[in-house]
Amino acid sequence: MSTLKISSIQASEADLQAYYAELRSQHVTPLWIGGGMTAEPRSKAVPYVWHWRDLRPQAMRAAQLVGTEQAERRVLRLTNPELPGVSASNTLVANIQIVMPGEIARAHRHSGSALRFIIEGGGGYTVVNGDRIPMHPGDLVLTPNWTWHDHANDTGQPMIWLDGLDTPLVRMLEAGFYEEHEKELQEQSPVRRYSPMWHYPMSQARAALERLAREGERSPFDGVILEYTNPVTGGPTMPTIACYIQMLRPGEHTRARRRVCCTNYHVVEGSGYSIVGDHKLEWEDKDVFTVPTWTFHEHVNTGARPAFLFSFSDSPVMKALDLYREEAKPA
Ligand SMILES: [Fe+2]
Repeated sequence: MSTLKISSIQASEADLQAYYAELRSQHVTPLWIGGGMTAEPRSKAVPYVWHWRDLRPQAMRAAQLVGTEQAERRVLRLTNPELPGVSASNTLVANIQIVMPGEIARAHRHSGSALRFIIEGGGGYTVVNGDRIPMHPGDLVLTPNWTWHDHANDTGQPMIWLDGLDTPLVRMLEAGFYEEHEKELQEQSPVRRYSPMWHYPMSQARAALERLAREGERSPFDGVILEYTNPVTGGPTMPTIACYIQMLRPGEHTRARRRVCCTNYHVVEGSGYSIVGDHKLEWEDKDVFTVPTWTFHEHVNTGARPAFLFSFSDSPVMKALDLYREEAKPA
């Protein structure tokens, strides 16, 4: 029996090109001439920061130009410079939504999961499957997959929040359903003071972070960090999105790490910068920035106050599919 070895076959360029043309006509592609696998994940998305000083005036302008009758949701999509017109990150959108005093955004539901992180406002509420959820600055409100939700601003000032959704992922999976409610607003069940599934008030998050800081619980990569969890499973808030809040001490500079997941950050308060890949993203109160997958990132609080960062990522998807990895940058 002869020795097994890789084969060397020489064909003329003309024969190869004729073969490829024939394959093309049959909708078949030879793997060896296409793009191959990469040694590690490479995101098309780039690190980027959107500043609140730019976003807020544009949100107010949208409120002058478009009503919630014309726009089912008055939303400005943050679009990654390398994902034009699409989304802030590969699988997750980070958008800004504004609801003006006296306005409603009508009830609908979709198979994409959504979160709201309230940036500005004096109240107002979202109704999720009949439950009225208050929306105060810093609160996290969930509208999981296929839950009815409508928004209302019964206060005297604009409400602005960050919308996080997994719509790019759901679109890629071709799994999206969408439905409008027969009524503009859902019937509300009696007001519940607290819905453990759908409402995570900032007052509780802040108190928990401060307690952990006193106890010295801190990560070299994230400072003091908490994951918002689903009280039923102890796992992430939603199957596709994990949510976190972290606190960085004045002067704190975290160690760099990279993870197989894309993450969008919102600066609840504080000022500093993050080194993300070879970008330096300067941030201050209410800015939004994005960290693409497998990109080293470290955070620095340059201010005199503690900095609070809210973030959400697609890590639950990566973990469910056994694709998750993380790695610290060698010191
Ligand atoms: Fe929605």
